[in-house]
Amino acid sequence: MIIGFFDLKQEKRVEFSIKLPDATKRRESCVVAGVFESRGLAAGGEFGESARRFLDGVLASGDMDGKAGTALMLRNVPAFGGERLLLIGLGKEKEFHDKAYIAAIRAAVRAAGNSGATDATLLLTRIPVRKRSAAWRIRQAAMAARETLYRFDRFKSRKEDARPLGRLAFAVDEKTGEAAAAQALAQGLAIGEGVALARTLGDLPGNVCTPAHLAEAAQRIAGEHRLDCDILEQADMEALGMNALLSVAKGSRQSPKFIAARYRGGPPDGKPIVLIGKGITFDSGGISLKPGEGMDEMKFDMCGAASVLGTLDAAARMRLPINLAALAPCVENLPGGAAGKPGDIVTSLSGQTVEILNTDAEGRLVLCDALTYAERLKPQAVIDVATLTGACVIALGHVASGLFANDDELAGALLAAGDAAFDRAWRMPLWDDYQEQLKSNFADMANVGGRPAGSVTAACFLSRFAGKFAWAHLDIAGTAWKSGADKGATGRPVPLLTHYLLALAGKLR
Ligand code: BES
Ligand code: MN
Ligand code: ZN
Repeated sequence: MIIGFFDLKQEKRVEFSIKLPDATKRRESCVVAGVFESRGLAAGGEFGESARRFLDGVLASGDMDGKAGTALMLRNVPAFGGERLLLIGLGKEKEFHDKAYIAAIRAAVRAAGNSGATDATLLLTRIPVRKRSAAWRIRQAAMAARETLYRFDRFKSRKEDARPLGRLAFAVDEKTGEAAAAQALAQGLAIGEGVALARTLGDLPGNVCTPAHLAEAAQRIAGEHRLDCDILEQADMEALGMNALLSVAKGSRQSPKFIAARYRGGPPDGKPIVLIGKGITFDSGGISLKPGEGMDEMKFDMCGAASVLGTLDAAARMRLPINLAALAPCVENLPGGAAGKPGDIVTSLSGQTVEILNTDAEGRLVLCDALTYAERLKPQAVIDVATLTGACVIALGHVASGLFANDDELAGALLAAGDAAFDRAWRMPLWDDYQEQLKSNFADMANVGGRPAGSVTAACFLSRFAGKFAWAHLDIAGTAWKSGADKGATGRPVPLLTHYLLALAGKLR
């Protein structure tokens, strides 16, 4: 049963399906089994007597010792229906938890994808993972497979050759049930697609991924799923009084765009979850110019916006029975003769005034007006997502996103979603004591609070615009992209957000 597919490039399609045990008996191009360190073949294989003896020989030879990260491709295994048998090292059995499982799936998909196989069946999805259901294993496998097959070669003159792999099947036990497995697979593929969308938008360079490009992307997603999508133009924002947002746009020749898209899968009068994503398509710092080194990575400063669009896309694909809105203030932050300056004072949409002491603290300026705008949607909860502070990278590194919230229930639900998705967040404080750092002699507040607790004071600034609803803020400065040899967008926190919505909809098994 084919559950879904995706197009790797326009022409290449990979189909995904679920396979019950007896179905693995037929001749296949590639079967993937796991090997534990010092324990041998993992559960999930059903090999006959002579195949087993042959494999025991392979393991005894030392060619495959089960160490995590190893792989061995075998051909012509006796009395075995498949053309290839790919062994994946799983590491120690008692350490085979979330991370090791996901790494094994990735290694399997990578190795199968680099072989001549046209299709592959992963037996790995039948191996128990501590505290996780079979549905979790299938959902994560689909997400990990989609992630491994992601390519961004739009600007490469020579594209990598398309590989023959066109079908991937995940094995499930009889007792899991085909329907439950199929639902988890569909969820994983929808989330994987949302992640890929967010990564593509993030990886696009700043001269292509402008505010107008993000607005077009939102309209394309809306068109595909028949969603409402309003784009507020500069004049609309002026009429509303979004002066904090507009002050950031002044130095750029790119007009700002404010995306407001809505998915209505719940009851017509059901209050929406509102997601807000920071969409700074390039952050030079403005007049408070950033140092040159690594400044190219500030093209990723729209990853919050990309993640809320990816989440919207995934929610619509899954047809979740909830109401959702995705807002994204999209602006380019550049210096210039017309740019905002340190010391400028603006009146935000909320009426509160802000003294802009540093034009590089621009994310909070666009987000504060978006938060005020969210009030008119009568939200059930508002979650903003932003590459907001370098300080958050110092605090949490590249492992966890920073979570701030004015509502414990919302915070708990998001932490749980991050755990379920293996896209983790860690809660940080929003105590009043920190608010003092935002004091201004000339306006209601300053837009920076000094070096100490930089990610907390940024969140404190936002909290002043979120008093009328349950609100959470995810600082994804350390998690939205990778630097170095693997430079590129990660698509986080689309997995966290989609799992939060799945749990709300009662669809997480
Ligand atoms: N987009 C940056 C935050 C950022 C910096 C994310 C580096 C990831 C890596 C944000 O707009 C910014 O410049 N924040 C300033 C705030 C400061 C001026 C209070 C920062 O973190 O330095
Ligand atoms: Mn900045
Ligand atoms: Zn920024």
